Amino acid sequence: MDNIILPRHIGIIMDGNGRWAKKRLLPRSIGHARGSKVFFDCIDYCRDLGIEAVSFYAFSTENWIRPQKEIDAIISLLRDNLVKISKQAQKNTRVRILGDISAFDADIVSQLKEVEEKTANNTGLIVAVALNYGGRAEIINAINNIIKDKSNDSITEEEFSKYLYTSDMPEVDLLIRPSGEKRISNFLIWQSAYAELVFMDVLWPDFKKKHLIEAIKEFSSRNRRFGGINEEDIKEYKE
Ligand code: FPP
Repeated sequence: MDNIILPRHIGIIMDGNGRWAKKRLLPRSIGHARGSKVFFDCIDYCRDLGIEAVSFYAFSTENWIRPQKEIDAIISLLRDNLVKISKQAQKNTRVRILGDISAFDADIVSQLKEVEEKTANNTGLIVAVALNYGGRAEIINAINNIIKDKSNDSITEEEFSKYLYTSDMPEVDLLIRPSGEKRISNFLIWQSAYAELVFMDVLWPDFKKKHLIEAIKEFSSRNRRFGGINEEDIKEYKE
């Protein structure tokens, strides 16, 4: 990984669990179970590579329209993995939850809050898990909190960012979506304004370290100008 520019913050849309299961004639819930294993693997890959923050889209505000049995399967998978998530504390990981988790059962809410509090002062990898998360809902939630605060007549972009679930996290540099779909699907829409988008054909349950490295290499090869122009093109104006 010499000469590779690492993204500070990677966003990952964990997509393709259902199709992975269907291809194997397995229930969709098995695809999600396999996907949650890959979620933990991917946290380790990010830590090994020295990434500062990684955010995973686990359950969107729109996912509630799925059949109740599938919603129940995803939620029980989350419940089953709460201990494993809280064990991240031992690896100096800081866990953040993005989204309105009040929609989940009280035992889940209290455990998620506990792991956030327990890891708040950790200094290693930041792992954010988006649960009942939608980018638009996040922005509306921020606006409502700003109105409640009433301390601002006007607000800067920087101040606004502090009202988002990702406050104090770096902006997303690299957004990865496996499964062949080419959409952002309401994930970190404010934070990804200048993210490099990498869409990959691999289904999430098949996602390996080599895919993460491939995406990072692709990111590193991109020419990021943030609306500016390249140094060599500035010369034209200096002559
Ligand atoms: C998208 O694939 C995946 C989801 C909506 C759920 C993702 C959830 C997990 C991986 C489990 C989360 C658990 C923890 C511990 C955080 P899809 O169902 O839309 O796949 P498809 O497009 O192939 O049908």
